[in-house]
Amino acid sequence: MSEFIPMSRPFIGQDEIDAVTEVLRSGWITTGSKCKEFEDRFATLTGAGYALSLSSGTGGMHLVLKALGIGKGDEVITPSMTFASTINQIALSGARPVFADIDYDTMLIKPEEIERLLSVHTKAIIPVHFAGAPADMDVIEGLAGDIPVIEDAAHAIGTMYKGGHIGSRGNIAIFSFHPIKNITTAEGGMVVGGDEAFMERLRLLRFHGIERDAWKRYGKASDPTYDIIEPGFKYNMTDIQASLGLVQMDKLEEITKRRTEIVELYIQGLSDIDGIDLPGRPTYEHRHAWHLFVVKIRSLSRHDFMEALAEANIGYGLHFPACHKLTYIRNMFGETKLPVTDELAPRILSLPLYPGMSDAQVQTVIAAVRKILG
Ligand SMILES: Cc1ncc(COP(=O)(O)O)c(C=O)c1O
Repeated sequence: MSEFIPMSRPFIGQDEIDAVTEVLRSGWITTGSKCKEFEDRFATLTGAGYALSLSSGTGGMHLVLKALGIGKGDEVITPSMTFASTINQIALSGARPVFADIDYDTMLIKPEEIERLLSVHTKAIIPVHFAGAPADMDVIEGLAGDIPVIEDAAHAIGTMYKGGHIGSRGNIAIFSFHPIKNITTAEGGMVVGGDEAFMERLRLLRFHGIERDAWKRYGKASDPTYDIIEPGFKYNMTDIQASLGLVQMDKLEEITKRRTEIVELYIQGLSDIDGIDLPGRPTYEHRHAWHLFVVKIRSLSRHDFMEALAEANIGYGLHFPACHKLTYIRNMFGETKLPVTDELAPRILSLPLYPGMSDAQVQTVIAAVRKILG
């Protein structure tokens, strides 16, 4: 039997292992100078004024919704075709997620849907840069006016929109470093933003509300006292994670380049098949980070397609089950009709895509898909 080709695999080498080992030997393993360095590098990469490292992207969303004061009676517009973490945080805040439909080709939120759904209760808009393609921020910001736009940038490390990296527009943008993501810290996240006071509030909420970082309180001749003005949470990143992230950042261009090459091979090898629709690209200027390669199966049920891939020893992923169909969402907020999302939800599947994938492995997947779909 041929070797299993997973859907994703972190791109970890000796440099990452050495960096983590150095932190483990250093005597300081939680939030410290490595997190600070990672935040500075990330702020520079994204062109955002400020960056805050976190234990996850989900934690970042929790803090941002909290700091914006979003809660009961409020509405937050976001696509249903996203990871449930965002929707969970909206629901847990007491607000109502208001689901926008997406474009069939790109699977990005449709700005005209935002226009349709805006109300006096709208307190935030959360576009998702789905699969590494940028949402149309000029149009979305124009519709939002004074309503905060929170960019879900979990898939968008390396994504450019009209010449700027995602996060460069002054909005809050939230990145994830979960192992499937384009760069990883095992688990982790980063919130970037341009408003210094807001980012400072997030920094306090990140770590119990304590007004100074632990590593500054434990150094030589430091002041171990603290005060808390507002109680906070515990969403700090560790220096072990940040050291991994710093090495991964050095490889970001190599990672994006390889992901793009793999996608080009997929497009060459699969675009003439009738039974499948390949991901489309936005028409505006951008750089796609190709976090995911989500295909739409037309000639076979997804169940049968997945079974045949498994038989061929090929992995797959589902990004995502539509959130408006989740049981608790239906129970809490009722039914929503989203024609494109409803059509896509049962037919999408993510094919293997990771920088360590060889050309031969890509061709194996292409050959299998061609065979399965006839
Ligand atoms: C679109 C989207 N948003 C948010 C998240 C949450 O990120 P994290 O896993 O770091 O909490 C993910 C992660 O999978 C995601 O795909």
